[in-house]
Amino acid sequence: MTNTLHLNLFIYPDGHHEAAWRRPESQPERITDISYYQELAQRAEAAKFDAVFFADGPALADNIAYAARAGLEPITKMTAIAAATERIGVIGTSSTTYNEPYNLARQFASLDHLSNGRVGWNIVTTSSASAAHNFGLDAHPAHAQRYERAEEFLDVVTKLWDSWEDDAVVADRASGTYADTDKIHRVDHAGEFFRVRGPLNAPRSPQGRPVYVQAGSSPDGRSFAARWAEAIFTAHQTLDNAQEFYADIKSRARAAGRDPGQLKVLPGISPFIGSTTAEARALEEEFNDLTQPAYSLQQLGNLVGVDLTSYDLDGPFPTEIVAPVGDRAFHSRSQLVLDIVARENPTIRQLCHRLAGARGHRVVAGTPVEVADTIQEWAEQGAADGFNVMPPWLPGGIDVFIEEVVPILRARGLFRTEYTGSTLRDHLGLSRPASQYAPRLEKETA
Ligand SMILES: Cc1cc2nc3c(=O)[nH]c(=O)nc-3n(C[C@H](O)[C@H](O)[C@H](O)COP(=O)(O)O)c2cc1C
Repeated sequence: MTNTLHLNLFIYPDGHHEAAWRRPESQPERITDISYYQELAQRAEAAKFDAVFFADGPALADNIAYAARAGLEPITKMTAIAAATERIGVIGTSSTTYNEPYNLARQFASLDHLSNGRVGWNIVTTSSASAAHNFGLDAHPAHAQRYERAEEFLDVVTKLWDSWEDDAVVADRASGTYADTDKIHRVDHAGEFFRVRGPLNAPRSPQGRPVYVQAGSSPDGRSFAARWAEAIFTAHQTLDNAQEFYADIKSRARAAGRDPGQLKVLPGISPFIGSTTAEARALEEEFNDLTQPAYSLQQLGNLVGVDLTSYDLDGPFPTEIVAPVGDRAFHSRSQLVLDIVARENPTIRQLCHRLAGARGHRVVAGTPVEVADTIQEWAEQGAADGFNVMPPWLPGGIDVFIEEVVPILRARGLFRTEYTGSTLRDHLGLSRPASQYAPRLEKETA
């Protein structure tokens, strides 16, 4: 493999470690300051990362008292970042459960235009159940129903993005023809969840469609990803699990009639880097020592769907009270937590520390060479096409990775030294889809 690794900077307000904001090197006072995000994106761009990424949920975290987990909504941030950068991709989360497809299609088409083709949409069905109460619902729709709506949502937005053929804009001043209306199509969608006539009120965007990113790893999430996703964010603790996921998702894509190479798998990695392994581990310990049980227990309780506040922190995790998988909001992530419990038998406090770094994503504490080694191992052993880099703290945590680890990856021929294309599709090695309405290409885009 040569320079084929993809690196995405996952920007969490103050960094991914839940206690990062309490450390002197983080800047929680800047999490509503757009220059903070623009600077981070510029640093990632200077290092030739594929993209920056923002997660999102339309509800305030229950444990906001103890961590800087609030901020700006992604589309607004993405717009400002697109204006402050030139090459790097910009990926943002938007929910199929709490949006209408027409609005979302317009927003992301607009972003794709104004960034000259650098936008990706992280498609989520929304993990936080409390969002329901902000949208007139008494309860979060059930997992399977959220995915059914997501499926139809994707069908509609795809039709809308395709509704203008590439050459629909004529802009011929002499004849007075601006657009060829034979090449602009109504979508006439009537389904279970949506009725949308179309067409979109914006011309086809530079990438044809923004890049489809997906981040759910349950069986429903995997089938959905196999049909739609072009990049997948995922969380794995062990090489074995990551390999299983990678092989499964690629074979599901193949079974769905797709080229598995057109679907990039990007597990998360949260690196604590030190000049020795012991120094890196000590740094992680310092962060863990600042965690607050009131925050961590709520976080853990949310993930596994149980209230752990009355349990002894230094006692065992009560596996017996966890509901069967179908009744949990976070299917794959709760399983990941239960797997840690089965493998390591930690106390509740140890488990909280284990998850404090990156909510179940893999935390690696080591030297730059050790971090590069694990990245290389996962990439070469069929576990990853690239990584979602999740610095424990920001902004400095990404600088260490860029200055110390990226040069090693380059020296090993794993990561680019220059961008070779201009769109996010180019960076990720994804083809540009044709419009499903373009007569000559009907079959190609089905
Ligand atoms: C890297 C990563 C980022 C995610 N970002 C979001 C997000 O921004 N908003 C959200 O609601 N869920 C997010 N998720 C969670 C998933 O989209 C999904 O809701 C959750 O994993 C439950 O779905 P599942 O049961 O199919 O795994 C993210 C997951 C991963 C791995």
